[in-house]
Formats: sequence, structure tokens, C-alpha cells
Amino acid sequence: MAQTFQPFEMERMMSKWENAVEYNLSESGVHPMIIRELIDDADDIDALLDTEINYPQANGLPALRERIAALYEESRPEQVLVTVGCIEANYLALHTLLEPGDEMAMMLPNYMQLWGVARNRGIQIRPFYLREENDWALDMGDAVTEKTRLIAVCNPNNPTGYILTEDEMDEIVRQAERVGAWILADEVYAGTERLTDRETPSFRGRYDRVLANGSLSKAYGIPGLRIGWTVGPENTVDDMWARREYITISAGMLSNKLAEIALRPQVRRRILRRTRDYIRRGYPVLEEWMNSQGGLFDVVPPQAAAIAFVRYHLNVNSTEFVNRLIREKSVLIVPGDQFGMDRHFRISYGLSPERLEPALERIEELLNEYTAS
Ligand SMILES: Cc1ncc(COP(=O)(O)O)c(C=O)c1O
Repeated sequence: MAQTFQPFEMERMMSKWENAVEYNLSESGVHPMIIRELIDDADDIDALLDTEINYPQANGLPALRERIAALYEESRPEQVLVTVGCIEANYLALHTLLEPGDEMAMMLPNYMQLWGVARNRGIQIRPFYLREENDWALDMGDAVTEKTRLIAVCNPNNPTGYILTEDEMDEIVRQAERVGAWILADEVYAGTERLTDRETPSFRGRYDRVLANGSLSKAYGIPGLRIGWTVGPENTVDDMWARREYITISAGMLSNKLAEIALRPQVRRRILRRTRDYIRRGYPVLEEWMNSQGGLFDVVPPQAAAIAFVRYHLNVNSTEFVNRLIREKSVLIVPGDQFGMDRHFRISYGLSPERLEPALERIEELLNEYTAS
């Protein structure tokens, strides 16, 4: 029996509005780079202009896969598949590792892609939680059972910006080992740390059955390249590649080339510095604004990513609030409903103060209309 299609509510709303509103505070990465900021070397520009716009090697240019492999412990280019964003890597992982009827454990709150894909494929989801009342500490509960085939984690986490402790990572690995489950680690926010220069460690290298997925969209501020990847056991990565032949064949040639440049160690360092500068300059602006709203908000300060997941004390539904915000104030944020947590919203702060401050003023105008009534 055909089941009702579960759309990806957050991406649907963002796709429709992010380029239509005056202030987009729904994005979880920092303000994107321009090409000129990425390439500043005349030889690189020449080499790009001389590039044949052919299909690249379908699993990713070897030079790019080498750069990606170098980011992980004991990893080789054959264990890397370059994908169209991290979103494709996640999608392929679920289609490769799980069958309808299988059971997976999933961290919540989370980017709800895997939740929707699992529902659409008839995969049973057993949630486990980051607990707001414990500053988003991990609570695995009894989510992992003998039937669990995969444990889906997002670290650093979207939407909370929480980074798992070493003990929490060990706990997840222990539970996976106990039942022989895969760990699907969406690590797209590694490199966006706000409070430390230590990059969030990967699950890769801690256990055999790990797929570590990442991309250039968040920590690198170049989402429009649409370059992501998975790193895992070679045969599993090859199985994912086989499935991808039906959808996109490969990511783009120019994107592969530009991505290789972005991942050269000295360029990468410069880009991550830029990202962290946005994040570290932006959060105090948001924090000061929240503090000036008379106790309306509670937030556990995010440790990473350019987003805060904020609880508000107002008797209004989050989707209703955001719909008014879009239509009346031309500002987009993400309603908590889209993470299954009403009375919250996710708001971006990875923008320059000149962009952030006027957007916050408009949100305040709408809030004032609610508090006055
Ligand atoms: C946790 C997470 N994974 C994957 C993605 C998709 O990213 P990409 O642009 O790399 O496809 C996002 C985007 O917001 C995300 O938050």
C-alpha cells in the first residue's frame, strides 16, 4: 500500500522563501564566499579557465578525494565518494544500508532529512535525545535494540549547536558495537566551533561500521558548489556510488576543481578562520538582542554552527509566528515545529552585524505586537 509522502518541511519552506525575503536568517552556515575570495592565485585561475567541462571522474576527482581522505584518520581516496552536498551522501547511505522494515535509532532534535527519508521508505525510527534541560546532553535511553541496523547522529548538532563529549561518542560506539549497527555520522558542522579552535573529532576511526559524511556548505561557506562526501569502508562506499549512477552520476567538474582548492591546507585554514570569525562576531549580537527582550527567550548557548535553537515564552505556535514574520516583516527563520519542538525557533547568526541587526529589529516588531495584545 502506498504511504503518504513525507515532505522535508524545513527545506520546502527554505526553498520557497530564502531568496524571496529581505532577511534570511534560516541558513545554518555563514555568509557565503565569493569566488574571488576562494581563489587568489593567477595560476589557479588559468588552470580553471583551461578546464575541459567534461564529466569529472564520477566518484570525484582523485585530487579532491585525496584532500578529503587527508581530513580523516587512516583514510584513503578509495574510501571517499564525492557527492552533491552532504544531503546526497546521507540519502545514499540510508538507501544502501537499510531496507524497508529495518530499524534505525536517530538523534533528536536533528536535521530532519533522514527522518523523512526513513519514513518514506518504511524504516522504523527509534529516537534518542539531546536533552534541553541538561544543556543538550545525550540521553540514549533504550533506543538501540538488537534489531537496530543504524544509528544516525549529527555532530555538531543541527539545530542546537551541541558538540558530543568524548564519553558520549564512546557511548554511541559501544551501543553500535553491542548490536553490530552502523553509525551514520553527519559531521557537516565540524569546523564551525564557536568556543574552541579544536575541530570536532570524527566518528571515523572509532569503529569499523562508520560512514562519516561532510560537505563544504557550512564550515567552508561555499554551499553553492554543492560538494559533499562520504568516507567509509571501500565496498560500502562503492555500493553507494552504484546507487548514485541512477540520480546525479557525479557532482560538477568546476565544483570538484574549486573544492580541491578549498581543501588545500593553507586555503582551508584561511576559510575556517573566516567562518569562525563570522560565528564569533555574530553570536554576541544575537545574545545581546535576546537578553534585551525581557526574559522572552531561553537558550543553551550553541557550541558550534551559525545557528541558535531558542525557546520562547509566548503563547503562539512557531509555524504561525514564522508565517507572519515572512509575510509581514520579510524575515525568514525556522519554526521549532519543523524539528518537532514547538515554542522554539532556529535562528542564524552567521551574518555581519549590518545584516543581522536590522533583521532582529523586525523580529522584535512582531514580538511586540504579540506581547502588546
Ligand atoms: C545536518 C545537515 N546535514 C546535511 C545538510 C545538507 O547540506 P549540504 O548543503 O552539504 O547538502 C544540512 C543543511 O542544512 C545539515 O544541516
